[in-house]
Amino acid sequence: MASYVNMVLLFFNLLLMFLVATAGRDFYKILGVDKSATINEIKKIYRKKAKEMHPDKNPDNPNAAELFQDLSAAYKVLSDQEKRKIYDRLGEEGLEQRDMSGDPFSNFFGGFNFKEQTPDIARGGDVIMDLEVSLEELYSGNFVEVIRYKPVAKPAKGKRKCNCRTEMITTQLGPGRFQMTQQHVCDECPNIKFVPEEKILEVEIEAGMRDGHEYPFIAEGEPHIDGEPGDLKFRIKQAKHPIFERRDDDLYTNVTISLTDALIGFEMDIIHLDGHKVHVKREKITRPGARMRKNNEGMPNYENIHKRGALYITFDVDFPKKTLSDEEKEMIKKILEQESKQQVYNDL
Ligand SMILES: *[C@@H]1O[C@H](CO)[C@@H](O)[C@H](O)[C@H]1NC(C)=O
Repeated sequence: MASYVNMVLLFFNLLLMFLVATAGRDFYKILGVDKSATINEIKKIYRKKAKEMHPDKNPDNPNAAELFQDLSAAYKVLSDQEKRKIYDRLGEEGLEQRDMSGDPFSNFFGGFNFKEQTPDIARGGDVIMDLEVSLEELYSGNFVEVIRYKPVAKPAKGKRKCNCRTEMITTQLGPGRFQMTQQHVCDECPNIKFVPEEKILEVEIEAGMRDGHEYPFIAEGEPHIDGEPGDLKFRIKQAKHPIFERRDDDLYTNVTISLTDALIGFEMDIIHLDGHKVHVKREKITRPGARMRKNNEGMPNYENIHKRGALYITFDVDFPKKTLSDEEKEMIKKILEQESKQQVYNDL
């Protein structure tokens, strides 16, 4: 009986430790998501909330900066599988402990090891698939549905060998004499076969993703008959765009203007990737090769949705094809008042 009481006391002690450890912020409540929310859902909601709650948009709320910080902290933890697992178990304090000691479990439960993945479980192969996306999609974000035929295990007739392993067999040969041999042993399991099944995966193209970015679907890769399936990864491949070229988060484009516009100035709109217009206005003379920079008109930054790259516009001048009359030549000379000059040089 006494040991029973001790057990109960121990249990309450542990519970108390646990409650103290979890007395941090409720990240699920802050984001307004369910405990079962997927990473995609969390990302989607975070982006929406981050826009609404940004301190720049809430100048009247004195707590805006703090609320925004809470939101960022919640996102940082819940969007990271590893951190989320620890948070679910040990709360915010558990995470802080881990940051201090490197491993939260070792000191928390006195050396108990909770590590989940055992390295010697067999695992199916990872599958990597290229997913071609347009620059428009990378600019604004989009959801893409991919139909995948995934091999799924189904019961089949007969038995199969499973859980095969090597075991040591000791045989007594005589008094004080033993022989040890290695033997390959297997169990018998119900047979299974892999049948392809259609499955729709929703891939979120997030604004600002870069070429080569890998987007994992845990356990959607090749199955393994005795172990865990591998992962399926989509690798973002940015399709070539007819107007814009991307370098990091900056965009580049070329514009051809007429010689007249180059001399007298011009106004124009460039239709951006989401359809908005970028207004370009020049009053001065524009030389061929001149480059104009429009800040914040580049790609959104993937890591920080409030940051954008720049748009660089390079001008090319289209010279008139017509031949000028003597009279016109005189007029141009008079207007431009530029001395006739030829300089031959080597600018190395
Ligand atoms: C702009 O022109 C330059 C020079 O011809 C070229 O290298 C570059 O690829 C062009 N960029 C775009 C976006 O067309």
